Parts: sequence; C-alpha cells; structure tokens
Amino acid sequence: MTAKTFKRKSGRKFNEMRKMSAEVGVIANADGSARFSWEGPDGKKTNAIAAVYGPKKMHPQHLQDPEKGTLRCTYNMMSFSVEDRIRPGPNRRSTEISKIIQWALEPVLMIDKYSNMVIDVHINILDANASTRCAAINAAAMALAHAGIPMRDIVSSVSIGKLDKELVVDVDKYEDSVFDEGEGASDIPMTFTSNGEMTHIQIDGNIDKKQLMEAVGLAREACKEIYEVQKKALKEVVK
Ligand code: CDP
Repeated sequence: MTAKTFKRKSGRKFNEMRKMSAEVGVIANADGSARFSWEGPDGKKTNAIAAVYGPKKMHPQHLQDPEKGTLRCTYNMMSFSVEDRIRPGPNRRSTEISKIIQWALEPVLMIDKYSNMVIDVHINILDANASTRCAAINAAAMALAHAGIPMRDIVSSVSIGKLDKELVVDVDKYEDSVFDEGEGASDIPMTFTSNGEMTHIQIDGNIDKKQLMEAVGLAREACKEIYEVQKKALKEVVK
C-alpha cells in the first residue's frame, strides 16, 4: 500500500489536513494573542490559544541576558481538553513541549535588541485531539506578530504520521494512538518558515532517509496552507 492509497479512518486524503481556523486578538489584556485550531470531520478539535506579554524586564535579575532578550514559552493543556480530566499544573511533557515551542519560534524572532528583557508566550490547549504542539506553535507565531515583536518570518507547524509505509499529514488522536501501538510507526512534527526553511523537527520512532525526505516534502506543502490561514487572520486584525 502506498501513501496515496492508504485509507484514513476520518476519510481524509493522505495529504489532507483537518479544517483549520485562526483568529488574532482574542485576549484583550495581552500584548498579542491568537487562536489556531484543526477540526476533524467528527467535530473533534485541537484548539490552541496563545497570549504574549512583553517585552518586559526579566526578573529575577540573574536570569537577564545582556546580549539579547529571552523568549519564554509555557505550554499547558487545560484539564478539560481531553475526555479524561488532566491533572492541572506543569509536568515533564509540558516542560519539554514548552522548550520545543521556544526552539521552533526563536530562529525567526529578532530579539537581539531586547537585552535583559523577556517575552512571555503562554499557550493553553483548550481541546486536544493530537498535534497540540503544532497548533501551539501556529497560534504563538501569530500572537508574537500581533504583539509587534520584530520577526524575520512567520512559522507554521504540522505533524506527519507514518504507519509502516504510509505517510499522513496532520495526525489526529485516533491516528496518534495507532502510531503508538504500531511497529515501525512514527509521528514527526515539523515547523517551517513561509520560505520553507525548517526550524523544528522531532522524530519519534524509526524512518528511513527516503521516507523522511518524503515526509519533509509533505509537511512543507501543508505548512504553506497553514501560513495562508495565519496570514489571513493577521490581515483581518489590521483592517
Ligand atoms: O499533542 P501532541 O501530538 O503534540 O503530543 P503527544 O504527547 O503526542 O499527545 C498526543 C495526544 O495525546 C494529545 O494531543 C492528547 O489528545 C493526548 N494526551 C492525553 O490525552 N493526555 C495527556 N496527559 C497527554 C496527551
């Protein structure tokens, strides 16, 4: 079976994302904010909201960097975001994802001039149906632009799933659980600038070089579509 003949449970084509929606300026008290979601044909969503505060003086003082500003991302899943209630508060997974979001965004941020300052990005996942880190990056990129933080580009993020030989774009929760069980399966979240430069990739599982290149190509194409949605939402707020 090739990627092109693989049938997804949701009925989506192998390279078809869930329906996207994006909105900028959703938190009145933040310096910048945005929401990004994917919704499957079953109505289940992955929905992320990001709020930017700053640049502001970094406290405590010993964390200040005189060479450049600091981007500080905090990813959190709301306790009601999945069917089983999640215990509130940080955990190992959320700490790791927060770091990954920071690394995915940093290459496009021009924070050199904000010495000793911090830019805080708080991301909350309202609905979690897999690929939440990608939705978080998509929302955070828009929120940073909305806050007027100088950026070289916007970034867009998507996850490619591999089930044995087949590749699928934008992994949902059902597919994520199949990949967790399947031998030779993997989930590969990636982030790209609008110019197609990669700023983040994670490979959870095994994949050969040829298939990895195919996965990168699929993600790059999907990110172009995400970028259009982000751009439209940002233009909407400028109006
Ligand atoms: O969400 P993402 O795919 O970026 O990260 P993951 O760690 O692979 O989690 C996949 C999905 O598992 C999440 O989107 C949630 O739907 C679910 N999950 C959960 O139900 N409870 C958790 N404590 C963590 C994740």
